Amino acid sequence: MEDFYQFALEVAHKAGEEVMRFFFKPHQISYKGEINLVTEADLASERLIKKSICAKYPQHAILAEESGLKGGEEIDIRWIIDPLDGTTNFAHGLPWFCVSIALEIKKEIVLGAIYSPVLKEMFSALKGHGAFLNGKPIKVSQTQKLIKALLATGFPYDVQQHPEPVMTRFHRMIMHARGIRRAGSAALDLCYVACGRFDGFWEERLHPWDTAAGVLIVQEAGGKVSDFTGRPYSIYEKEILATNGFLHENMLRVLQIDGDRRE
Ligand code: IPD
Ligand code: CA
Ligand code: CA
Repeated sequence: MEDFYQFALEVAHKAGEEVMRFFFKPHQISYKGEINLVTEADLASERLIKKSICAKYPQHAILAEESGLKGGEEIDIRWIIDPLDGTTNFAHGLPWFCVSIALEIKKEIVLGAIYSPVLKEMFSALKGHGAFLNGKPIKVSQTQKLIKALLATGFPYDVQQHPEPVMTRFHRMIMHARGIRRAGSAALDLCYVACGRFDGFWEERLHPWDTAAGVLIVQEAGGKVSDFTGRPYSIYEKEILATNGFLHENMLRVLQIDGDRRE
């Protein structure tokens, strides 16, 4: 497992450098939806990561945002990749973006590496061995009251077509917390919960590549992750709440809106 972990760190770092080659130049933007962009950097990063995996572990499956699943559903070892999380920021010259790589074995995430190349911050976790920022152990915050908490969230790309229940939840949460940031990279939001910069994060309609590495990093840093009803989170489901643990019940209560079932 250690070999896979070192490999993931190395490739995330290389992909981050690849993304940086394009950061200060004009971008070639194409559209997956009216506000959902892809740049040349997303594609170059994904190419680099896939090439590295195929060269070293040709028998492994790969689930990557821009090219989908390579290898069958039946393959037990699957790399899950977001080649550039925070594409909209990247395209506008905002330095808040990252590369996210996770390894799933038999449906369990066993390691994650998330590299934020502008700040040169590498967040990582190996299941059962803790979470790290540039090799140093990290822990979630100790904040116990929502009114003292700095939270993070994001909005799905189809929010203009389907604003509810996203906007109601945002409105409810902002009435209870010290502050909320919508910084534009779900993977980094999770890393920031893991190292205590944020106290909690929620979002809906995310994809497996947005959260696969970040969820393990939060859990290994002592945090808690669930859906909006408190059930264990799966990267293949659509709701995520990640907190320092202390705020979890309280945030679940605020996220719960009329008509939701709670078990
Ligand atoms: C997006 C970012 C954003 C979140 C979106 C994601 P992308 O990923 O993580 O913070 O709000 O829902 O899709 O498109 O930049 O890889
Ligand atoms: Ca993403
Ligand atoms: Ca992406």
